[in-house]
Amino acid sequence: MASCNPAPTPTEAPGPLAASSLRDGVQPGGSGGAPTDANAIQISLVGLPGGGKSSVGRHLARSLGWRFIDSDTEIERQIGCPIRDYFERHGEPAFRDIEQAVVDRLVAQPGTVLATGGGVVLREANRLVLSRHSSVVYLHSKPEELFRRLRHDTHRPLLQVKDPLRKLRDLFAERDPLYRRTAHFVIETGRPSIATLVHMVLMQLELAGLVDAQQVPSPVEPRSAER
Ligand code: S3P
Repeated sequence: MASCNPAPTPTEAPGPLAASSLRDGVQPGGSGGAPTDANAIQISLVGLPGGGKSSVGRHLARSLGWRFIDSDTEIERQIGCPIRDYFERHGEPAFRDIEQAVVDRLVAQPGTVLATGGGVVLREANRLVLSRHSSVVYLHSKPEELFRRLRHDTHRPLLQVKDPLRKLRDLFAERDPLYRRTAHFVIETGRPSIATLVHMVLMQLELAGLVDAQQVPSPVEPRSAER
């Protein structure tokens, strides 16, 4: 197992609501297509593991000429080891503290597409900063579809269990309402290609007046956009 940086002490770790998250008038998502902060020019992707947040996010950022950030990659840079190892050494609450601090920092960066970890919506503080400061897109997938994609996964700590399909169903039952509450847009992933999903996201953003029509490429799939 790779060695990890030490867990933050309680004074370093943010509380359930980080001070910078407590801005006036912060409301959960579902605000009809736009973040409550009218100047927000960041897109965040939320959804269960395996739903395509990183792949869609990377291609979406490329289409918009924006920067792509994956919060799990940033977390791993900070902890100095794979997330799975960190879970084993320090436990899930320590991981969630780091995740909250990283999201709080990243969500303030304009012109970015942010792919979040599947559990980001578990903390209210994360739901509030994401929905206030970015256009949040929920990539909705059925647990059975995710299981098909993730059945051989060895990286995600929560799925290293005897019955991963059951675990995905439990995660879905717990989190689907939280994703919906946080998101401004819901995209059904089903089986379309990444290029089609990116197009669906861009169309929604364009309809809401959040991106320029010229930034929405033709639905004809570019060869480079594979899963
Ligand atoms: C998690 C999902 C992972 C990662 C961590 C916890 C979760 O991210 O943040 O393993 O709680 O569902 P992905 O959704 O990118 O797999």
